[in-house]
Amino acid sequence: MALLIRNGLVVTDNSQGVADVLCEGEVISAIGTNLQVPAEAEVLDATGKYVFPGFIDPHTHIHLPFMGAFAKDTYETGTRAALLGGTTTIFDMCCPSRDVQPWEGYQEWRARSEGQACCDYSFHMGVTRFDDDSPGQLRRVVGDGVASFKIFLAYKDALGLGDEGLFRALRLARELGVVTAVHCENATLISELQRELLAVGQTGPAAHHESRPPQVEAEGVHHLMTFAGLTRAPVYIVHLSCREALEEALRGRQRGVDVRIETLIQYLVLDKSLAEQPGFEGAKYVMSPPLRDKANQGILWNALRQGLVDTVATDHAPFDFSDQKALGRDDFTKIPNGIPALSDRIPLLHTHGVLKGRMSLQDLVRTASANTARIFGLFPKKGTIQPGADADLVIYDPEARYTLSAKTHPMNVDYSAFEGWEVQGRAETVTLRGRIVVRNGRHVGSPGDGHFLRRQPSAA
Ligand code: URP
Ligand code: ZN
Ligand code: ZN
Repeated sequence: MALLIRNGLVVTDNSQGVADVLCEGEVISAIGTNLQVPAEAEVLDATGKYVFPGFIDPHTHIHLPFMGAFAKDTYETGTRAALLGGTTTIFDMCCPSRDVQPWEGYQEWRARSEGQACCDYSFHMGVTRFDDDSPGQLRRVVGDGVASFKIFLAYKDALGLGDEGLFRALRLARELGVVTAVHCENATLISELQRELLAVGQTGPAAHHESRPPQVEAEGVHHLMTFAGLTRAPVYIVHLSCREALEEALRGRQRGVDVRIETLIQYLVLDKSLAEQPGFEGAKYVMSPPLRDKANQGILWNALRQGLVDTVATDHAPFDFSDQKALGRDDFTKIPNGIPALSDRIPLLHTHGVLKGRMSLQDLVRTASANTARIFGLFPKKGTIQPGADADLVIYDPEARYTLSAKTHPMNVDYSAFEGWEVQGRAETVTLRGRIVVRNGRHVGSPGDGHFLRRQPSAA
């Protein structure tokens, strides 16, 4: 059935204006004023509302075995939460453990998500080992439509890859034309600082930041810039959190490194004082890189507005406070890292970015949708509103107000890092390839609505 969205403020990354949007089948067929209503079309009045392209989260962890725990969302709960927050496509991290070959690991992530997802999704393929079998295995994964890698420089004893693996994986990525997303922190510095802190009895969540200060992240970024420069592989820095790391990335870019930069909604609105609260409360705010000194927030907002930082993600990694974060009650190095935010990213960006004059509506679309589609090979199918694009649309009520809370949020996790925060703006209606999946703020779709998106490497 056709769908006509009338009279909304249609916003893309480079334009905005009041118009009608007609969706036929799975795609947008026309944009204009006073469009004819096709027979049997549903008509939605968007007067006074924004019409955005579906938002895209470039970095989530739905299935994540990590630090002795499993992230709590399933593909059903996580992708439903995404839709309710206006996100219609996620890029989930496929992170197999080192004792599993890449193709086998990838098959596990595919099997878990198949028929379960409520929004569209793709994967970044985690390269957690690199041996003689890896090139053949990774070629096969890329051939199946996963045109990006993910490498951790941190997490030395689990998911992290050493320098030899990093070099070889980047060489392969360059040859295949895939972008490599990289977690940049120096693993040796982290383990040495952790050892010293524990030895002097600093066991609580506040020590997490001390074990991963800005220099640790900046060194990781500098390291990556060197390897990416030498291999000429395109890279994407995930979850950049601070000035020092940004400066290293921009120096790399100035030298000609093909680097894109992601920050997180958490770094834009939360700061390290939250992880320094008395007792164990700070564990809710333990993630890596850590929340930083507040002074970094303005730097990141400015960098987003100026186009120096490309995307805003969530790095959604939901671990319950009651039992999972509690694994690190006596030792901060054992607190599962991550702060859930999948359904909160867009209302927080709207409230703290757009409404506070830190970003325009077009910046919001650029950094939370279009740039991700461009960088990872989905544009213009996703990330914009134009004839022929997938009809993934968000009718956004800019006046709606609600309060973020674990009692009401759709994520499957027992706390909210934003408990009690009031936000303004809500995804009222969301369409996924032309079908309404959120109506009046309620999910009306089903698991299996979401498709796995196959992407082509840029060299192809
Ligand atoms: O603390 C974080 N970021 N947790 C998720 C895993 C990762 O490093 O992306
Ligand atoms: Zn990471
Ligand atoms: Zn992550």
